[in-house]
Amino acid sequence: MKRPIAMIAGTGHAVPRKCLTNHDFASIGVETSDEWIVERTGIRQRYIAGDGESLTSLSADAARIAMKAAGVTAPELDVIILGTASPDRLLPATAVEVQAALGATRAAAFDLSAACSGWVYGMQVAEGLMAMGNAETVLVIGAETLSRIVNWKDRNTCVLFGDGAGATVLKRSTKGRGILSAFMRSDGTLADLLQRSAGGSLRPVTPEIIEDGSNCISMQGREVFKNAVRSMAEACDRALDGAKLSAADIDLLIPHQANIRIIEATAKHAGMPLEKVYVNVDRYGNTSAASIPIALDEAMRAGRVKEGMTVMFVAFGAGFTWGSIVVKF
Ligand code: ACO
Repeated sequence: MKRPIAMIAGTGHAVPRKCLTNHDFASIGVETSDEWIVERTGIRQRYIAGDGESLTSLSADAARIAMKAAGVTAPELDVIILGTASPDRLLPATAVEVQAALGATRAAAFDLSAACSGWVYGMQVAEGLMAMGNAETVLVIGAETLSRIVNWKDRNTCVLFGDGAGATVLKRSTKGRGILSAFMRSDGTLADLLQRSAGGSLRPVTPEIIEDGSNCISMQGREVFKNAVRSMAEACDRALDGAKLSAADIDLLIPHQANIRIIEATAKHAGMPLEKVYVNVDRYGNTSAASIPIALDEAMRAGRVKEGMTVMFVAFGAGFTWGSIVVKF
C-alpha cells in the first residue's frame, strides 16, 4: 500500500500540577545535586502526579486538547492506543478508562507496552489499522506516571523520570501529508538492563519485594546509554532511507527526551544541527512514552512545526525497543 496513509490532524499534552526541581531532592532525602543532574542529564525539573491525578486523567486531558485541535469528537474515534509502562491498573488496560472518560463510545481501546518507544510504536500500529481499512480516526497517546513506580531511595533512577501525557489524532492523509516512513525494532536479550523485576505474574508482590524495591524501576544506566545512542542512530538512518530523504530535508528532529547527551549524539549522527532539534528534557525529565508527543505538541504550538514541514521522530526504551517515523505536516 502506498504512503502516506495517516496524517497528524491534532496534538495535545497535559502534565501534573506539581513541579519537582533538582533542588527539591534534598528535602526528600535523596543524596544528589542540581549540578550532577544537569551535567549528566540536562534535566532541571520534572512534574509529579499528585492526589486526584492519574494516568487516565492526564491522558484524557491531553486527548481532549488534541481532539479539539483536530476538530474530532469522541464518538468519531475508531481506536484509542495508549503507549505506557505505568498503567493505572494492570487489568484492565488504562486505554479503556480513557475511552470511558472521553465518551468515545465506538472506539476499540488498548494499551501498548513498548516503554519509551510506546508512541512511535503506537503510531505505526495506528497507520497499519488505517491501511487495512479497520479505522479512519485513531487517537494515539503516550503517557506515564513513572513517579509511582520509581524507587525514591535509588538516586540512579529517581532523578531521571517525570509524569505527563501527549496525545495525537490521526486521520486519513490528504495533500501528501502524513507518515512517509516508519521503522521499529526490539532486542529482548537486553531486557534485564532496564526493568521492574517483580510485581508482575512471574514474581507477584510480597512484603519482601516491597522492602527491597524490586517492584520499582531499576536500570544499568551506562549500558542503557550506549545502546540508546547506537539504536537511535540506526533508527534515524532507517527512517531517512525509507522516506528517500537526507538530513537536509528534515525541518525538525524530535527525539525521545531521556538525556541531553543522548539527544546530542543522535543529532550528530543524523547530521542535524542542534537548532533543528527539539529539546525540552530540561523541563520535563524523561517522561518515557509521553516525551515525544509532549514535545510535538509544544513544537506545534510554538510554531516550530508548520504545514509543509517534514519532521523525524526517534525513540528508544526498555526492552530494548526502538523506532522512528518521518512525517510530512
Ligand atoms: N546524584 C549524584 N550522583 C549520582 C546520581 C545522582 N542522582 N546517580 C548516580 N550517581 C553517581 C553514581 O553512584 C556513580 O558514582 P561512583 O562512580 O562513585 O559509583 C557516578 O554518579 C557515575 O554514575 P554513572 O551511572 O556512571 O553515570 P553516568 O554518567 O552514566 O550517568 C545516567 C548516569 C544519567 C543514568 C546515564 O547513564 C543515562 O542517561 N543512561 C540512559 C538512561 C536512558 O536513556 N534511559 C532511556 C530509556 S528509559 C525507559 O525506557 C523507561
